[in-house]
Amino acid sequence: MIEVDNVLERDVTPQLLSAVTLAATTDKPLSAADQVARMRRGVNIVGYDPLWQDPAKARFKPRHFQIVHDGGFSSVRIALMAFRFMNEKNELPAGWFATLDGLVNEALAQKLTVIIDEHDYNACSGDVVGCRSRLMAFWRQVAEHYKDAPGKVVFEILNEPNEAINDLWNDVHAEALAIIRRTNPTRNVIIGPAFWNNVGWLDKLALPKNDRHIIITVHYYLPMTFTHQGANWTPEYANLSGNTWGTPADYAALDKDFDGVQAWAKKNDRPILLGEFGAYEMGPLGSRVKYTAAVARAAEKRGWAWAYWQFDQDFIVYDIDKDQWVEPIRRALIPDRELLS
Ligand code: BGC
Repeated sequence: MIEVDNVLERDVTPQLLSAVTLAATTDKPLSAADQVARMRRGVNIVGYDPLWQDPAKARFKPRHFQIVHDGGFSSVRIALMAFRFMNEKNELPAGWFATLDGLVNEALAQKLTVIIDEHDYNACSGDVVGCRSRLMAFWRQVAEHYKDAPGKVVFEILNEPNEAINDLWNDVHAEALAIIRRTNPTRNVIIGPAFWNNVGWLDKLALPKNDRHIIITVHYYLPMTFTHQGANWTPEYANLSGNTWGTPADYAALDKDFDGVQAWAKKNDRPILLGEFGAYEMGPLGSRVKYTAAVARAAEKRGWAWAYWQFDQDFIVYDIDKDQWVEPIRRALIPDRELLS
């Protein structure tokens, strides 16, 4: 049975809630598997939102947390590019924490699980030494700051480690986890394989056997020729267009990849979060809908949680400018919840 984890689950008004959530200390540790069961269906938010530069320019507003909840989601993954806000001593400003506290509190008020994801993967793909000191400084400060937060707040050490950091990744995530454990002995922490959290790199991931509060994340964008067609940040796919998805062979390839992850998960007794997936807007909508639904169902069938990439900016499931869901994509993700109009 999943424990009702804190004051959040009780009958408390949202106003009162936002004052108390970060101080809630009484919840029992949640097993990694129970946490994944509660995360269930999630969405990536605010990574590229101007709110980080200027809260007054926020696209994602507090009310969007309720929209996320009412749309059928139970978790949010907050992508944080925090390095750029650190001073020369790698300290994060109080204003940055205030912004993040606001987001975390609003998410918790909607009973959403909140993943705090350090997303400076580009900075870490070249300058590993610089990345490493900033990443450790990030986790020293963030872990301390949220040490009394409810169990629904989960940490993710680093999004998509790649290139220069690949070979050092086991060492880097172990150091970060040790820092986190000093202040958060039982909080669930998300760690993924190197090479962009690639499903094929799980066997290279080394984990501390006795730490059972770890959730494993993978990202899935295969085949890239479909999901990234027309995407200018991936030059090899930028000029592609019109590629479709949905043949029996396409479904079989997806199943094969996910079966491989599932075999690893069973062997290592670790629960899985599919932390990103989706297909860029330049692909044909009909295929994007099929793909999005197929990946979400393939994850659910195996008992994984998932987080769609992403709410706003690109691959969008919500159109902030029109203030409405991109309903074909939302319905592909959440087929069993109609929107009330
Ligand atoms: C990156 C995004 C990118 C997405 C798909 C994410 O991890 O942060 O910038 O759009 O992957 O390529």
